[in-house]
Amino acid sequence: MKALPWIAFPYAALLVFVGGHVWRWRFDRLGWTSRSSQLLEQRWLRIGSPLFHVGVLGALGGHVLGILVPARATRAVGIDDSAYHVLSLAAGGFFGAMALAGIVVLTLRRLLVRRVRRGGGVADVVVDLALLAVVGIGMGETLGWNLLVGEYGYRETVSVWFRQLFTLHPDASLMSGAPWVYQAHALASLTLFALWPFTRLVHVWTAPVGYLARRAHILYREPPASTSPS
Ligand code: HEM
Repeated sequence: MKALPWIAFPYAALLVFVGGHVWRWRFDRLGWTSRSSQLLEQRWLRIGSPLFHVGVLGALGGHVLGILVPARATRAVGIDDSAYHVLSLAAGGFFGAMALAGIVVLTLRRLLVRRVRRGGGVADVVVDLALLAVVGIGMGETLGWNLLVGEYGYRETVSVWFRQLFTLHPDASLMSGAPWVYQAHALASLTLFALWPFTRLVHVWTAPVGYLARRAHILYREPPASTSPS
């Protein structure tokens, strides 16, 4: 029974994630867009969008350290477990709160601003709600569980299980014994991965980040005939 949520479901979600992207690229390349609603409403977007994007990028940076990097590697470079805990609480709390505030603003905007609601589809609402669930439950782990229940060493269970998925030897008992909030966050994230290719989240892979480092255009113009030297 443990195998269903912690082995079958993760692989099904990852399969849909990869296969869905291939399908979308082949058959809906013109629809591969962020479906920006900037023209429909700007005031709330200017607040919610940067809060969400900066917050989620910071939080996912923390996931690289806390989930992909084994605890023994951080210990080896001198970050002991209590220092790691303080770091994850402070940085995760800060970026997570930004992401949560951002996605709350963006979801309310999508539901309450008529032009935005009418301009979007069901998938746009679903993706906002899924992000709200993932980020909200994530904060339930980082601040809620740690501060109200007690420190939980997820780097010995959740993180190990997640890395094992990629070596094709996941141990389901690592997750089935984790507190419910850690289980809920992982299941919500896997659901988000399965929805990803069928929503505007695909824009993440083609965000025009090159613009930030691009050299300015140099424009060459012929001088008008009247001003050219005789
Ligand atoms: C299966 C994939 C994922 C796993 C196993 C996972 C696991 C975790 C864990 C263990 C925490 C608690 C961190 C701590 O207390 O230090 C956490 C927090 C969090 N997660 Fe995830 N996560 C996943 C995917 C995601 C995704 C896709 C997002 C965003 C779209 C996300 C957003 C957050 C946020 C905002 C927090 C709270 C702030 C923080 O501590 O970083 N997570 N996640």
